[in-house]
Amino acid sequence: MAIIAQDHIYILETARTHYVLGVDENGFSRHLHWGKKCAPGDYEIPPAEDENSNHSACDAMQQEYTVFGGTMYRPSALKVTFADGCRELELDFFGASYTDDTLVLTFRDRFYPLEAALHYTVYEADDVIGRFVTLKNTGSQPVAVQAAASAEFTLPAREPYRFCNTNGAWGGENRRTDTQLDGGELVFESRKGTSGHTASPYFIAHRGAGEESGEVFGAVLAYSGNFKVQASRDLYGVTRVLLGMNDFDFRYDLAPGESLDTPPVFFARGEGFGGLSRTMHAFAVSHILPGHFAGRPLPVLYNSWEATGFDVSAQGQMRLAEIAAGLGVELFVMDDGWFGERHNDHAGLGDWTVNAQKFPNGLDELIGRVNALGMDFGIWVEPEMVNPDSDLFRAHPDWAYHYPHRRADELRNQLVLNMTRSDVQEYVFACVDRLLSAHNICYIKWDMNRPFSQTGAENLACPQSLWYRHTRAVYAIVDRLRKRHPHVQFESCASGGGRSDWGALMHFDEVWPSDNTDAVDRMQIQQGYSLFGPAKTMRAWVTDISPVGRPVSLDFRFAVAMQGALSLGGNLLNYDEAMLQTCRKYISLYKELRPLVQFGDLYRLRDARSGIAFNQYVRADKKESAAFLTAPYCGFYRKQEPLMFAGLDEETVYTFELFGKTYEKSGAYLMHAGIPVRLRGDSIFAVIHLRAAN
Ligand code: DGJ
Repeated sequence: MAIIAQDHIYILETARTHYVLGVDENGFSRHLHWGKKCAPGDYEIPPAEDENSNHSACDAMQQEYTVFGGTMYRPSALKVTFADGCRELELDFFGASYTDDTLVLTFRDRFYPLEAALHYTVYEADDVIGRFVTLKNTGSQPVAVQAAASAEFTLPAREPYRFCNTNGAWGGENRRTDTQLDGGELVFESRKGTSGHTASPYFIAHRGAGEESGEVFGAVLAYSGNFKVQASRDLYGVTRVLLGMNDFDFRYDLAPGESLDTPPVFFARGEGFGGLSRTMHAFAVSHILPGHFAGRPLPVLYNSWEATGFDVSAQGQMRLAEIAAGLGVELFVMDDGWFGERHNDHAGLGDWTVNAQKFPNGLDELIGRVNALGMDFGIWVEPEMVNPDSDLFRAHPDWAYHYPHRRADELRNQLVLNMTRSDVQEYVFACVDRLLSAHNICYIKWDMNRPFSQTGAENLACPQSLWYRHTRAVYAIVDRLRKRHPHVQFESCASGGGRSDWGALMHFDEVWPSDNTDAVDRMQIQQGYSLFGPAKTMRAWVTDISPVGRPVSLDFRFAVAMQGALSLGGNLLNYDEAMLQTCRKYISLYKELRPLVQFGDLYRLRDARSGIAFNQYVRADKKESAAFLTAPYCGFYRKQEPLMFAGLDEETVYTFELFGKTYEKSGAYLMHAGIPVRLRGDSIFAVIHLRAAN
């Protein structure tokens, strides 16, 4: 039983955690505990009393879902305006229903027709809990929702917490930050329409935790649109976090009888950041990723973008495909430039028909050749966008978000289609569906290359709901396409990692975490992504991009890219035989290690920010493991130091090779004493395959 209910107290029990909430005699939802398990009978609801005339009980209370109104002055999870202009909410408990692993607490406004149901699902064995909120208009007039967080959390104890998030950019996604919240608020958000490259839709809170030690609280929002993570610490030292859709420019008018489900949040506790990541990776693979490919290893992919840019042609792609096939590539992907008048980024988006000059014998000539070479074929699309220079825009200038008397800002010479319109949704669905129905395509790279602007949507009675409706429309189209074409893999891309969140992972099989394929920069980008993102969902290309001034070797680039879903993206036409041989060697080794990398437990043994990254992936039974060491440069001053492993079985003896020497050592020795190494010079890398000898 994952849910224990006793006298208006509900204990949600996972393998290592109790999350406890209740409802008090005044009908308030109360947060009681998030942490180690205690005796169920010990939990109780503390009384709520006004401190004095300035500090009300309501303001101090630890609630599960705080609503706007009364003497509550903290950030609120829910804010609405009723038809008569009243902006105050007074929720009262209406009822609870629960099964072995789900709990729903329903609250109703004391006067107005609004119902808020807090839903919880306990994944006991996975050590994860999911939650979301359903708002329902039970009356006959609209209710304007102005803020609706998916979850509110109260962290235990009074000491200040530190919050890990990211402060990234295009080409530099997932760059970790760690900020102490002594008082006031911390906000991590996106206002761009997608989750974006900068901050991340999650929180990781700790009080001085390390990679493998210290208690870490984490929650992730499964949503790819504008989000807001708002952490605050009050005068009593209580730290709370709201997580959900951003209330920036947001409004959603609930029609009579209509319901709105907020995007879900999934949360867990971990021993260190590594513990939290491993719990969330395993959970994402078993419960978040769309079923078909979740349990299967993702293929080695070649993508032609960095090799050819927009200059694609049947002959050129076939030449690349022939070389790629000889290397062991399993999926050949043609990127941007194959459709309409798409010769550069000024034209063509929206016209999803094959360019006849580039493909005089149609797309099937290329696909046939790729298939004959033993590879699957994949293709790039950017369906939410239109270039003003396109047949689509000439026919439907009103299909892009716009205001009649405002200029239309063009970023990358393109506009965002109004995906809240049903005719646009049908057009987008039909274009991709036609492509998939007419050709043997096994993979779609769904790109999205600019943030929103001039977000006029005349079709909507409540235009500010577009932020939410756009994201839902994209999910719905991808889901529909998947249903009709279940053998097709979908990758989420938005100028690199602009849509690489858990919302994307609920609908896509993988993400493109960054346009930056410089292996040295990638060391950090990939470790940052791995806080919540499982390795198998992270496409990682080996390309010709190498740091200026101190380039790294091709082997090094493989050692970095093999830590996700290995892919190639260089111009293979320029590779000499020695380089091709290197590619063959590592692709074949990757196929051996792939089950470990894509399904193993990840240990981040050295933080890439130190200049040395060391990551280890361990199979569940601990009999086999792959470890990757990469350091672009280590100075002469470095002395001999132990390379420490993790996650192994102490008693098991492992054999492996490292820097040309064969070792046979117990797990205990590898984890507690380590193998002495001397790291000096450029492009230091090691791909270590540990196997149980006994
Ligand atoms: C941005 C993506 O991130 C790239 O990988 C590539 O697909 C380009 N768009 C194509 O325009």
